[in-house]
Amino acid sequence: MIGEAASHAGKTVKLNGWVNTRRDMGKIVFIDFRDRSGIVQVVFVPSELSEGQRDLIKDLRSEFVLEITGEVKKRDAKQVNPNISTGTVEVLAKNLVILNTAKTPPFELDRDTRDVNEEVRLKYRYLDLRTPRMQTNIRLRDRIITFFRDYMHRNNFVEIETPILMKGTPEGSREYIVPSRLHPAHFYVLPQSPQQFKQLCMVAGFERYFQIARCFRDEDQRGDRQPEFTQLDFEMSFVTQEDVLAYTEAMFIALVKELFPDKTVTSTPFPRMTYGECMNTHGNDKPDLRKNKNDPNELAFAWIVDFPMFETDEQGNIAAKHHPFCSIKEEDKEKFMKGEDLMNIRANAYDLVLNGFELSSGSIRIHEQDLQKLIFDLLGIEESEQKARFGHMLEAFTYGAPPHGGFAPGIDRIVMLMTGEPNIREVIAFPKDGNARDLMMGAPSTLPTKTLNEANIQVKKG
Ligand code: AMO
Repeated sequence: MIGEAASHAGKTVKLNGWVNTRRDMGKIVFIDFRDRSGIVQVVFVPSELSEGQRDLIKDLRSEFVLEITGEVKKRDAKQVNPNISTGTVEVLAKNLVILNTAKTPPFELDRDTRDVNEEVRLKYRYLDLRTPRMQTNIRLRDRIITFFRDYMHRNNFVEIETPILMKGTPEGSREYIVPSRLHPAHFYVLPQSPQQFKQLCMVAGFERYFQIARCFRDEDQRGDRQPEFTQLDFEMSFVTQEDVLAYTEAMFIALVKELFPDKTVTSTPFPRMTYGECMNTHGNDKPDLRKNKNDPNELAFAWIVDFPMFETDEQGNIAAKHHPFCSIKEEDKEKFMKGEDLMNIRANAYDLVLNGFELSSGSIRIHEQDLQKLIFDLLGIEESEQKARFGHMLEAFTYGAPPHGGFAPGIDRIVMLMTGEPNIREVIAFPKDGNARDLMMGAPSTLPTKTLNEANIQVKKG
């Protein structure tokens, strides 16, 4: 690998990679040669190469893909480049194979593309991803996910994949719909989150479930929202709210310590306030509690607890504030059982906030059928509809469902905040644009009539 070239001084090596930049000094040509591990300077001296190869050098352009065999030579002290890990050496090329040519990229790849038109960046995402900042972001994302996965396994959680094709969930957002070929006029939806499945994993006796879970929501886009995104979704049986908060807090402190030792957490334990206090003091439920908002290394976590169970939606109808599976705070149970003062009934529901962003939501759930039915009743869902939409949950609760609760930190937002990026598109390899389009592939797209017919779809004109 290129990044290790310095440890091979005096030896002949064979390297694969891309031309980062090319410089001509008379007959001698220098290239910065790049692979995933770094950059090394390669020197092409005509007298060191066969005749046929001398001609090839003329053709070399940025982003050509090459195989170079050459001798790693120590540089004179004066020529050392302290900016790259291979700066003490250069490779004197002895043999060159052009594995592929490349057109001139639509933007420069050896620098930050933040100020390049984003439509162009997204159309050529595979090129944008070659740039140093994007390589760093995507690799850091992998390290964060790996950290979480290891942490969960160390704590005896089981990773369980749950279905992507499922039945509609009641979590508030609009769902993506998938038509069924085998069952005309019937549809799957894509999960907004694995909420119901993770609760059913508790009924199934796993006790500690997690998943690096892809979620899909057909909602308006913002800098911290994408139509598909990833959660560290987890659920635990026989726990209190305190247990979930303590587990999560320790995990985030360990993440910072292990992967971001230069960052400081403003206060531990994380400050905690109720939703009511937070709204009164900050006017919103995701306050930015950093002491110095200009410090890129400050991380101000905060817990917001005691969210209301209900809210009124845009049409003035009663709706679940988080989702209808949250349990009710003991102090408010009496009002709840009587169906009184609904807007002031609090749930065992909590959020984790970081630097003014909602990082995660969760709750202790209901595990009893009668209480779950009461919530549905209060939400105005008729008995027959309860059965049709949530019969499986209501039934599962009658077969020894343990008390349980969980949480779901958004991975994209975590990586965004840890890298100091302004939006989550910068930390997702292939994101959608602000209109939920994939500009590279051109999705969404029309489909041939035959395909639509097979899926029993008739497209409305106009
Ligand atoms: P919620 O809907 O609050 O809870 O989502 C949890 C976390 O997921 C992230 N998130 C998103 N990230 C990017 N783009 C989006 N469109 C988007 N929507 C949400 C956020 C958010 O805090 N099932 C429950 C969790 C639970 O109760 O355990 C749920 O999904 O970081």
